[in-house]
Amino acid sequence: MDFSLSDDQQMIQAAAREFATEVIAPAAARFDQSGEFPLDNIRKAGELGFMGIEVPEEFGGAGLDPISFSLVIEEIAAADAAHATIVSVNNSLYCNAILQFGTDAQKRQFARPIATGEEIGCYGLSEPQSGSDAGSMRTRAVLSADGSHYLVNGKKSWITSGPVARYMLLFATVDPSRGPKGVTALMVDTGEAGYLRGKTEPKLGIRASATCEVEFADCRVPVANRLGGEGQGFQIAMTVLDAGRVGIAAQAVGIARAAYEASVRFAQERKAFGSAIGSFQLIQGKLADMKCRLDAARLLTWRAAWNKAEVRKHGGRNTTEASVAKLFASETAMYCAHQAVQIHGGIGYSREMPLERYFRDAKITEIYEGTSEIQRIVIARQETGLR
Ligand code: CAA
Repeated sequence: MDFSLSDDQQMIQAAAREFATEVIAPAAARFDQSGEFPLDNIRKAGELGFMGIEVPEEFGGAGLDPISFSLVIEEIAAADAAHATIVSVNNSLYCNAILQFGTDAQKRQFARPIATGEEIGCYGLSEPQSGSDAGSMRTRAVLSADGSHYLVNGKKSWITSGPVARYMLLFATVDPSRGPKGVTALMVDTGEAGYLRGKTEPKLGIRASATCEVEFADCRVPVANRLGGEGQGFQIAMTVLDAGRVGIAAQAVGIARAAYEASVRFAQERKAFGSAIGSFQLIQGKLADMKCRLDAARLLTWRAAWNKAEVRKHGGRNTTEASVAKLFASETAMYCAHQAVQIHGGIGYSREMPLERYFRDAKITEIYEGTSEIQRIVIARQETGLR
């Protein structure tokens, strides 16, 4: 057992930390308040190789491993969770799908411009009436009589980066009566007629990560843009979520770390009743519990990232490891952000400090890419073999 990072991993971690502390952190509060999409920073992240970390160099990426991906996301999230959402979805839900299920031509067309950061990708699974029950989607893809394209109609919701994305990995059903077995994955150019961006969601946290609805009204998608076979889409969606959940776990670790580190500093500096508050046992108890959960969350995230690479080499699924990491890390982020606000007292509740932002941002990690309730279902089903 070796917990040390390789030279490549240490290098990308240091590069991400520098970018996060020098570029993202100073602007994080401004982006949170304005809700503006941080396009320039995302382009810079692309130049540094952060938008396609695991994408091979021949397709425009950095060609690194899943641990490197987790390290980058943790660093970015410790500065600003909204930036981390954009980077994580681009890498894990979007690029991973094309890498694993796309042809070389699809990798060149749809992964390269996204991995370099020139364009942004998004993932379209949820619908207004189907979030957790993803298999019951209604968005319909009908094959044309000449078999050259699909005509897509329906509505997708909660699309991360939807307002700015150039391409969407869309899941639509070719036959709703088949449930998950009718779901088909299509790469959609968002410039096509019939791709209509809807309202941008006003959110509690990760406000600079733009999220919107998308409506499809007779949108034509060439058959050549199908990822995998007809009916393979649900398996693709779930496999990719197994990768995405490692990203959200790393994001949650970053938020938890930021909350914890701010709390340690405050506990050392803030005096009450003649002593630094960190010398009081009630504060010490909070810090110790935060530290234990933070370390455990990071180790579970690294295990899931490591196992993702093993699964890629040897086959199998990373479902349990990813869900365990996502569940534990997101609840840790919420716990640490909550404790951090409490330790800081009044100033923790103020917008003068980033604690209240960590608190708002942490919440989404328990919701997107599968709620904590869904993660528990996934884990229990995997462990028992029961449904
Ligand atoms: N890997 C590969 N295949 C998988 C799989 C996985 N992780 N999970 C399920 N499958 C396969 C199953 O083996 C099954 O195949 P067979 O029929 O051939 O055996 C098929 O998929 C259907 O599986 P289930 O019967 O288990 O499907 P279900 O309808 O009971 O749903 C679920 C399972 C776990 C609840 C699933 O619907 C789920 O994960 N829901 C949550 C969806 C989610 O995370 N949404 C978030 C949207 S993305 C997002 O948040 C936006 C963003 O931009 C950040």
